[in-house]
Amino acid sequence: MAIIIDGKKTSKEIKDELKNQVEQLREKNIEVCLCVIQVGADPASTVYVNNKKKACEYIGIKSLSYELPEDTSQEQLIELINKLNNQKEVHGILVQLPLPKHIDEDRIIQTISPDKDVDGFHPQSVGRLSIGQKGFISCTPAGIVQLLKRYNIAMEGKECVIVGRSNIVGKPMAMLMLRENSTVTVCHSRTKNLSEITSRADILIVAIGKPKFITHEYVKEGAVVIDVGMHRNEDNKLCGDVDYDDVIEKVSAITPVPGGVGPMTIAMLMNNCLESARA
Ligand code: GUN
Repeated sequence: MAIIIDGKKTSKEIKDELKNQVEQLREKNIEVCLCVIQVGADPASTVYVNNKKKACEYIGIKSLSYELPEDTSQEQLIELINKLNNQKEVHGILVQLPLPKHIDEDRIIQTISPDKDVDGFHPQSVGRLSIGQKGFISCTPAGIVQLLKRYNIAMEGKECVIVGRSNIVGKPMAMLMLRENSTVTVCHSRTKNLSEITSRADILIVAIGKPKFITHEYVKEGAVVIDVGMHRNEDNKLCGDVDYDDVIEKVSAITPVPGGVGPMTIAMLMNNCLESARA
C-alpha cells in the first residue's frame, strides 16, 4: 500500500511551529511583516494571494496588501518596491506572478532587495543556492524537501529525476536535491525517451504542466512520486501532472493533488518571512 504524503497536514504542523516562533519574536518587539503586491486581477492570482494572506493571519504575520490596477506602469511598480526595500519594518516583498505583458518580470524580480526576496527568485538567491550559500530558497522546491524529510524518505544516494526545468521549480529543485546528495537528472520537453529516464527514478518529481501526463509506464515499481502540477480536469475537478489512479498501485509513496505539494509552498513562504525577520 502506497503512503499518501499529506501536504495539508504537514503544512499545518509547520505553520503551528512558525506561529510559536512569531510569538517569540513579538516578545522581542519584532513584528514579522510581508508585503504582497498584485498587479491586475487575474482570478488564479487572486486565489493564491488570498491564501498567502490567510496563512499570514493564521501565523500572526502582518500582511500589507497592494492591489494595483492592470495598467500600472513598470516605473510605478519599481518605485513601490524601492520604497518597501527601504522600510526597515518590512521583512518580505512578494510580487505575484505572472505580471501584465507590459512589465518586464525579470526587471521586477531584480528590483526586490535580496534581503527581502522571500520567493527566492532573485538572481542572487538562485546563485547562492547553486553554490551552497545561505539564502532564500524558492518555496515549492523547499516544501518538497521538507515533505520528504518529514516522511523520512531518504534522498542521499538516490536517483532523483525531475521533469521540468522552470526557474521557479525544476532548476532550484535540482540544486536542492544535489544538496541532499541525490543523483539528479533533469528532463524537459525536448528530452528523448522520457519514460526510459523517469523509470530509473527512486524519487520522481514532476512539474511539466500537463494534466495526468505521467502514467505507470513512466514510473519504477516502488518509486516515490512528487506531483507539482495543478489543473482542472473535464469534470472541473483538480488533478496533477501525474495520473494518480494509474500509478497508485506501483508507487511506494505519492503526493495527492490537491493536498500534496500546494499547501507546502505557502508554509515555506511563511518560513522565509520569519527567517528574514530573524536576520
Ligand atoms: N505565481 C505562481 N506561483 C508563484 C509564487 O510562488 N510566487 C509568486 N510571486 N508568484 C507566483
